[in-house]
Amino acid sequence: MSTQEFRTVNPSGNKRVLVTKELPGQRWIDILTAADCRVDISTSTDVLSVDEIKTVLRAHYDGAIGQLTEEWGNELFAALKAAGGRAYSNYAVGFNNIDIAAATQHGIAAGNTPGVLTETTAEMAVALTFATARRLGEAERFLRAGNYKGWLPTLFLGELLSGKTLGIIGAGRIGDAYARMMVEGHKMNLIYHDIYQNHALEDYIETYAEFLQQQGLAPVKCKKAGCVEELLEEADIVSIHTVLDDSTYHLIDAKHLLLMKENAILINTSRGPVIDEAALVTHCQQHPDFRAGLDVFENEPEMKAGLVDLNNVVIVPHIASATSWTRQGMATLAAANVAAILQDYPVWGKNDIAPFLEGDTPRAAPSILNAEDLDIPIYKHS
Ligand code: DGY
Repeated sequence: MSTQEFRTVNPSGNKRVLVTKELPGQRWIDILTAADCRVDISTSTDVLSVDEIKTVLRAHYDGAIGQLTEEWGNELFAALKAAGGRAYSNYAVGFNNIDIAAATQHGIAAGNTPGVLTETTAEMAVALTFATARRLGEAERFLRAGNYKGWLPTLFLGELLSGKTLGIIGAGRIGDAYARMMVEGHKMNLIYHDIYQNHALEDYIETYAEFLQQQGLAPVKCKKAGCVEELLEEADIVSIHTVLDDSTYHLIDAKHLLLMKENAILINTSRGPVIDEAALVTHCQQHPDFRAGLDVFENEPEMKAGLVDLNNVVIVPHIASATSWTRQGMATLAAANVAAILQDYPVWGKNDIAPFLEGDTPRAAPSILNAEDLDIPIYKHS
């Protein structure tokens, strides 16, 4: 990476922060500038390798903002430490690309950007669900190719979702938001799998069921699955919202796919390796009524052989969080993480990160994953 591939903002800043991609919006720049940081932004759109980032970190750096496409493990945290750094933030809520233990070992606070992706990502899961159920990609390709010769009773028959059973694997913030959108919008029953019980979601659906009954309509139901297998067998649509770690790697494999209904729909907006993608390709080839909607892939940007040829799969290039509001919000939170640590501020310690998005930025880091291990105190909320 040559120096031509950088632009520098606030060159006279006393601290120096590396940002490995251009980020949208202005607020994040203002936050770092107000914290007296010079900001070096890589203007390259290529995914930077560990070696390329290490080369840049030969200069002095106090902090860095990196991407989910970069492996922030021992090598990079050691390099950041040697460069004089003590703050890192992922420009992502997911952090499977960060070795938190390595960051902690090098005394580097490692942050992420929760709270601004929830609705946006859930909306993409909804979009993929409908695009898949109603065969939008296939139908559009057909039309654009000039194949439409007139209305037919049998043209592109898809699946009705209303009243069916939705299964979500992972009922954290995004899974919860998606479930509410689908259950309430389309009167679906819910089965969910998570290590934790989601009481708030269960209560919400129970209240909605009572409301439906008062209207003389059939109530919706909600239950927590005893195991993933139970969910896969019962659900008409399965949407994945887990983190990626050792326990979820290839959670959906050939055996699990066979448990699902012949005409089930599988949606993934979490991380590609949760699904054994080669097994999914084979399953979709052998079960034409089975459908999948994917935002993420096992070896991005590559896709397993055969995936792009499947008409029963809808694919988009990891854009579930791609709205201007969310991507600007992620930039704000990442910058606030780094700026706060470099100013010795505490961590926010609350789920509600809205105060960071407008007005005066709180004197706190919105989300530091290893705050406890590094003994970073929690902000005193009044
Ligand atoms: C994240 O932040 O983890 C998302 O995958 C980005 O879209």
